[in-house]
Amino acid sequence: MEQDKNLYGKIVAQTINDRVMSEVDYLKNKGVYPKLTVILVGEDPASKVYVRRKEKTSQKLGIISETIYLEEKTSEIELLSLIDKLNADRENHGILVQSPLPDQINENKIIIKIDPAKDVDCFHPQNVGLLVSGNPYVLPCTPAGIVEILKYYDIAVSGKNVVVLGRSNIVGKPMANLLLQKNENANATVTVVHSRTNDIEFYTKNADILIAAIGKAHFVKKDIIKEGAVIIDVGINRIEADNEKGYALAGDVDFEDVLPKVSRITPVPGGVGPMTIAMLMQNTITTAAFQNGIEIKK
Ligand code: GUN
Repeated sequence: MEQDKNLYGKIVAQTINDRVMSEVDYLKNKGVYPKLTVILVGEDPASKVYVRRKEKTSQKLGIISETIYLEEKTSEIELLSLIDKLNADRENHGILVQSPLPDQINENKIIIKIDPAKDVDCFHPQNVGLLVSGNPYVLPCTPAGIVEILKYYDIAVSGKNVVVLGRSNIVGKPMANLLLQKNENANATVTVVHSRTNDIEFYTKNADILIAAIGKAHFVKKDIIKEGAVIIDVGINRIEADNEKGYALAGDVDFEDVLPKVSRITPVPGGVGPMTIAMLMQNTITTAAFQNGIEIKK
């Protein structure tokens, strides 16, 4: 039988969720009821799906969840004053404003308005700074989820050549910073390549671990990877399809094409996706504990 090369984020997420559930109990025994508030502005269909998933997972794990739906035409000032209110609410420990936001709202202004103590996304410059300087408070959700997958499957990262494809603030940049940390789950030699990189293949062909977060369906093919590479596919792209919905989801990696050449690979769906929410739940515990002066032992 063919060896199963898949890295199942779904399974790893379950182990994180189990830990979070016991931490929720621990906090509740101390009188703290962890609560996450998610704000969705507008009608983006993919965002609606993500926000519902976050709510469902919170409820499953015993985290109080509130989702605030705001109209597409909501002004920046309205959103900023809502964040002010949530920052001041001692019963609320985490604030997530779902991205992307409508054009009239400057995302950077929103990010810096959120109290860093409640920043479950790790988007606030204070939290990004703590990560970069090697003393993180919360962790960036998707990158931290990828580290958990590598850890669970015993994939050595220390000393390896890791190439991150994409330089977004949400995945590429924090991913690189997390893998540069001085610890056994990191210690990687990290290269970030992006749309303006000359000769992307030069780097990807030398990658022991390739993390694709470029937002282009099936960008990674077998001819640009190293034999035996570990491939992590962060992409969730909508491509036209001849089905009821009219679209299908495709990763940044051409799975069938690269499969014979890789040692391990995350599928889409069921790979990285479930980890993002699991790590968000973990961050909510971190913020709830911190705001109440409680230490969670790891
Ligand atoms: N949009 C897509 N993924 C995310 C995420 O992890 N956090 C936020 N705030 N918005 C997103």
